[in-house]
Amino acid sequence: MSNIVIFVGTESGNAQMVAEALNDELGRLDHDVNIVEEFDDGLDVLDGVETLIVSCSTHGLGELPDNIIPLYEAMNEDKPDLAHLKYGIIALGDQTYSDTFCKAGKDMDALFTECGAKRVGDRLEVDACTQPLPDEEAIDWVKEWLTLL
Ligand SMILES: Cc1cc2nc3c(=O)[nH]c(=O)nc-3n(C[C@H](O)[C@H](O)[C@H](O)COP(=O)(O)O)c2cc1C
Repeated sequence: MSNIVIFVGTESGNAQMVAEALNDELGRLDHDVNIVEEFDDGLDVLDGVETLIVSCSTHGLGELPDNIIPLYEAMNEDKPDLAHLKYGIIALGDQTYSDTFCKAGKDMDALFTECGAKRVGDRLEVDACTQPLPDEEAIDWVKEWLTLL
């Protein structure tokens, strides 16, 4: 059993829906889950977090959702030491945006790695074009992810 935090970056709710589906699945497996979707320009939100999933969509042309920009900017500026942290990443996007497909999730992934965090498993990239039910794909992914922790 783990304490798992899920950070959500969303504009229109899909990444939140994924987080809630993961919450249900992880709770069913007796893990404690805390979903965070509001960020300020501090890094307190990372205090005590050892196991993390980031569920983040892409908007604009490869941009982060507004709600998670403060976290990205604070991490990018301070480069906190996250060597103790294991994380997984779910990037939501749309392949129609071929040049910027899942770019925000990829950027978050790169920043966590740059801060020394250890990614567990492959990044899940969910294409809204071909996958109308991102929560189902995410649940399959998290079952595998848990075995790698
Ligand atoms: C205005 C707009 C811009 C988007 N830009 C991108 C993009 O640059 N790259 C990408 O992969 N997906 C892009 N998408 C697709 C979203 O990432 C995708 O629909 C995702 O599921 C939305 O998740 P959310 O509801 O959590 O924000 C865009 C969607 C919209 C509506």
